[in-house]
Amino acid sequence: MKKWYAVIGDPIAHSLSPFMHDTWFEEHGIDAAYIPIHVEPSQLEKSFEAMKTLSISGFNITLPHKQSIVPFLHKLEESAMQMNTVNTVHYDGKKFVGSNTDGDGFVQSMLVHQVDKTKKVLLIGAGGAARGIALALKRAGFTDITVTNRTFRRAEELAAEIGGSSVTLTESEERLAEFGVLIQTTSVGLATGEALPISLDRVQAGTIAADIIYNPLETPFLKKAEEKNCVTLNGVGMFVYQGAIAFEKWTGIQPDTEKMIQLITEKLGGTYVNN
Ligand code: ATR
Repeated sequence: MKKWYAVIGDPIAHSLSPFMHDTWFEEHGIDAAYIPIHVEPSQLEKSFEAMKTLSISGFNITLPHKQSIVPFLHKLEESAMQMNTVNTVHYDGKKFVGSNTDGDGFVQSMLVHQVDKTKKVLLIGAGGAARGIALALKRAGFTDITVTNRTFRRAEELAAEIGGSSVTLTESEERLAEFGVLIQTTSVGLATGEALPISLDRVQAGTIAADIIYNPLETPFLKKAEEKNCVTLNGVGMFVYQGAIAFEKWTGIQPDTEKMIQLITEKLGGTYVNN
């Protein structure tokens, strides 16, 4: 029988997940559909009950439900337990199991570019997204992580949790040449304008500069990094890899991520460059 999957969120209309998963289902000849569902916070529990009644096989969760879904699930994988947030649910035949594939998705998208795990990493931001990435970097074996953040106390807390270091924004700007990898996780750059979370004046050419934002494809941070001859990575890779890990949990199949990065980049009006 045809299987079905979904993404729930509020808002949800602009999600690219249905396009991504439907494309992969088709590529692999899997008889399944993936549906975006608008779920308001007050309807979350009822919606989950309804999806179970209608034998859903798995789903993604986006804002604002990533945390509030947790009490309804039967089991959490380590990634979700550490974060207390879930972006993917799969049915294991008995239970609905929650996981969080965002951090691992980011790290996998970066490792494709042969990033050396001993390079010094500067993580810019200390919110939920930064925390997921920091924990995933640790799991993947990165050894030297420094956190910087506007609110310094949050940088200190995250650094303590992962056994890394913390620096103020100003100190990170002064010491920028030390870092081989910069990861931009703040929401600066989402809005229009030329805002940068930190000045990139002292960045070394060849540094890997990654931004988790994919809309716009080129944030002011990436634009500046490009001018400084860094290797730039936008957030499309993270988006595609978090989806690929979910797809594998649902189907056991590793989908074609590189082709999907190209399709999504083009959908967002960009030109695909394989670096
Ligand atoms: P998310 O889950 O997307 O990470 P979040 O937990 O609200 O969202 O975290 C947002 C991050 O962006 C934080 O690091 C935040 O810095 P503060 O901890 O100082 O708030 C950062 N951020 C948001 N707006 C910012 C701005 N205008 N300048 C600098 N940092 C900003």
